[in-house]
Amino acid sequence: MNKKKLVFSGVQPTGNLHLGNYLGALKNFVSLQKEMNCIYCVVDLHAITVFQSPNELKNNVLETVASFLATGLSPDKSIIFNQSSVSGHAELAWILNCVSRIGWLNRMTQFKDKAGSDKEKASVGLYIYPNLMAADILLYKATHVPVGADQKQHLELSRDIAQKFNNDFGCKDFFPLPEPLISKNISRVMSLRDGTKKMSKSEESDYSRINLKDSAEEINKKIKKAKSDSEQIPGDLKSLEKKPEALNLINIYSELSKTSLDKVLNEMSGKEYSFLKKKLTDLLISEITPVGNEIKKLLDDKAHLEKILKKGKEKANIIAEENLKIIREKVGLI
Ligand code: TYM
Repeated sequence: MNKKKLVFSGVQPTGNLHLGNYLGALKNFVSLQKEMNCIYCVVDLHAITVFQSPNELKNNVLETVASFLATGLSPDKSIIFNQSSVSGHAELAWILNCVSRIGWLNRMTQFKDKAGSDKEKASVGLYIYPNLMAADILLYKATHVPVGADQKQHLELSRDIAQKFNNDFGCKDFFPLPEPLISKNISRVMSLRDGTKKMSKSEESDYSRINLKDSAEEINKKIKKAKSDSEQIPGDLKSLEKKPEALNLINIYSELSKTSLDKVLNEMSGKEYSFLKKKLTDLLISEITPVGNEIKKLLDDKAHLEKILKKGKEKANIIAEENLKIIREKVGLI
């Protein structure tokens, strides 16, 4: 068995990336590229599981590449490309649609959340989306997948699909069982308006999230308006259990300041939340606004971004085709 480590992850091009994507995924992408071979994909085929305006989609793909680069990904160290440019993703997804079980998909909580109350009206693509995600990873025989906690269930399904393929076609260890790499400190950044929901691009209110392209003024306004608590900051975590918005702000602060939660609580115990908010705003402005400015700068040269995608596609396609050739043989496709 080839035990070489390979990292794969994807991000949907559905508009502005936010602090959740940044802390839950992108920052890890960047640190992993220093030590492993990494493939990072703008997953446009996933995005179209809900309707996207074609022009916006094109722009959003380029903006996502710009965000990758602005946070520190390098096309010299990692393979950066968009999913639809390597047709192997769709081909393997079909094969895996035939391996994956309806019962498995029925358990996916993200489909239930995204489809809402009227599941009959959701696209078939949205339902089988986790199979495509498994195909993304297995097409490259990736071993490690950095994601936020919201993708954990999809990763478990990818492992089940890999295992069933290996069993069904008598090729033990052919697909590695991909391991999720989920940040221990902050695996789920929550909405600034409702600490029980994750920060998300699809949340209606822009005040629920910090976008990577937000100006210093916007960040300041959003953190000022963020829900916290009328009581003073407690000195222990237990007292924050029923205060998810306050806990979320403290978590974000702890992550950005690289200080443990206990230490933060020690420092801030007895202070008003306005004190924390001021410090958090300063940290966010110094870390996020340079990223946003770089994204805007990179977007001025779309040809450069397209060139990076093209190069990445060529590299990705070589690995994909090599693996697909063997996969087709295993399945019995001539
Ligand atoms: P997507 O585009 O919704 O999010 C991209 C990455 O950001 C993480 N993330 C968060 N992390 C912490 N807190 C949050 N509030 C938050 N919001 C988003 C996500 O966990 C993800 O890592 N299905 C995937 C994309 C995908 C993929 C793949 C990922 C397609 N194929 C193969 C890994 C491997 C998605 O929709 O992510």
